[in-house]
Amino acid sequence: MNTFLELVKLRTSVRRYDGRPVDRELALQCAEAARLAPSACNSQPWRFILCDDAEVLGQLRSSARSMGMNSFVDQAPMIAVLCSDGGNIQASLGGKVKGIPYHYIDIGIAAEHFCLAAAEAGAGTCMIGWFNKKKVSSALGLPPGIRPLLLITLGYEQGDARREKRRKNLDEILSWNRYTRQ
Ligand SMILES: Cc1cc2nc3c(=O)[nH]c(=O)nc-3n(C[C@H](O)[C@H](O)[C@H](O)COP(=O)(O)O)c2cc1C
Repeated sequence: MNTFLELVKLRTSVRRYDGRPVDRELALQCAEAARLAPSACNSQPWRFILCDDAEVLGQLRSSARSMGMNSFVDQAPMIAVLCSDGGNIQASLGGKVKGIPYHYIDIGIAAEHFCLAAAEAGAGTCMIGWFNKKKVSSALGLPPGIRPLLLITLGYEQGDARREKRRKNLDEILSWNRYTRQ
């Protein structure tokens, strides 16, 4: 059993998959963790579309591969697409008034829940924000108003990508009580 911080350290973006298929049950567990994420006004502005069909996967892969980016998507046996409907009226109006697009924040939290659940189950994920939205919308038959915001590859890692996280030190990004210039 991982402690929470151990699990956070364990999750890393996996860009090499060994070709083993992912059980749908595992993907559903990850989606369940995402479903339980918090959201502004509890508006739950998400739709999760789990893709393991060869033809759909082909279209999603081609939507993510461009300018030398994301060629590893070809190895991933499953791709989750996190879409947003923009949130309910309170959250979307509130977001406009405050100038904070809450539904982006909500989808990000749900995405991390998804990835942490996968890591706990021994699977690997990589969030992908670099993709062609039109291609994804057409591949999945998304109606107007449902926007794909993030793809997440899901599969089993080839080798061991575990590595020290390259992150800024806390003292570069944290201060108490007021902003301080570093
Ligand atoms: C919103 C978002 C979009 C991302 N898009 C991509 C992407 O298109 N391709 C990719 O290889 N990684 C992508 N990543 C993964 C980041 O590069 C990765 O999380 C970051 O380098 C930190 O590494 P780690 O996840 O291994 O800790 C994305 C991550 C986030 C949160």
